[in-house]
Amino acid sequence: MMRSVIARGCRKGASRPAVGGLAAGRRAFSNEVRSTAASGSTVYESRRTVEEYLHFHYGPKEHTLPYSFGPTDALDFPERMAAIAAKHSSPDRRELAYDVGCSVGGGTFAMTRTFKKVVGIDFSHAFVEAAQVMKEQGESSYEASEQGVVRSRLTARLKEGVQVDRAEFRQGDACALGDIGQVDCITAVNLLCRLPEPRAFLQKAVDSVRPGGILVLVSPFSWLEEYTPKDKWFGGRLDASGEPLNAHAAVAEVLEPAFSLAARSDEAFLLREHVRKFQWGVSDCTVWRRN
Ligand SMILES: C[S@@+](CC[C@H](N)C(=O)[O-])C[C@H]1O[C@@H](n2cnc3c(N)ncnc32)[C@H](O)[C@@H]1O
Repeated sequence: MMRSVIARGCRKGASRPAVGGLAAGRRAFSNEVRSTAASGSTVYESRRTVEEYLHFHYGPKEHTLPYSFGPTDALDFPERMAAIAAKHSSPDRRELAYDVGCSVGGGTFAMTRTFKKVVGIDFSHAFVEAAQVMKEQGESSYEASEQGVVRSRLTARLKEGVQVDRAEFRQGDACALGDIGQVDCITAVNLLCRLPEPRAFLQKAVDSVRPGGILVLVSPFSWLEEYTPKDKWFGGRLDASGEPLNAHAAVAEVLEPAFSLAARSDEAFLLREHVRKFQWGVSDCTVWRRN
């Protein structure tokens, strides 16, 4: 692992760092966001968030979690989600997959080990550009926060066995995917509760996954009005009769009977903010097979 420590802002005239080759001739980042725990869709256009997600998808484990007592089973989240898609996909349903809400592409690349073509789609231009840099260069330099203004420079690298030529990245809206034809697999990892129209996305999955294909729907169901109007939340609120709405049941109501539930598990993830602060979450991971 390449690593050097930088004290950002301590030197007069310290220049803004390039992130994964994004600085020259590429889109400007949105105003500084201090943490991905902040909300609103501009979070995903910020330099800080691109860096945190590069670390989340490609960072060295020992840097992500330098504590022996930490939740090691939360590491390698994008790889684990791709492995679940691989495990449940039929060998004759491995032509075309979509990784919707792909962020900086770690899961998309991991899926190229199984699927002949994987299209990663994300609403964030900055994420898609970072994923594209990974595809073109195989690596990307970025900074990770250590403490205060102290940051480490690291290099994100593609993992073993991925087939870059099979991956394609596009900026797009999960709620308006347009004509994607018939696909063998859709993964939506930690996406649903970030959408303004989650039902439109689920309906598109019903319409687009071909019989025998799968939808891998992974979500911590962290509903927030900054992303999704409350009346469109699947769960996390009371229904018309005042009863708590169960997210899994509400999702199943849209997906069944077109899909059957093939597997369900709790999947932990760990996003490093700095050396002593993390977002640890547990997503409800469901695999749905198209009937
Ligand atoms: C919590 S992140 C999860 C990213 C990635 N799947 C992962 O697990 O690391 C949510 C992602 O959804 C993307 N997103 C939000 N709204 C979207 C939309 N309408 N269409 C496509 N992607 C969207 C964000 O840009 C971000 O990459």
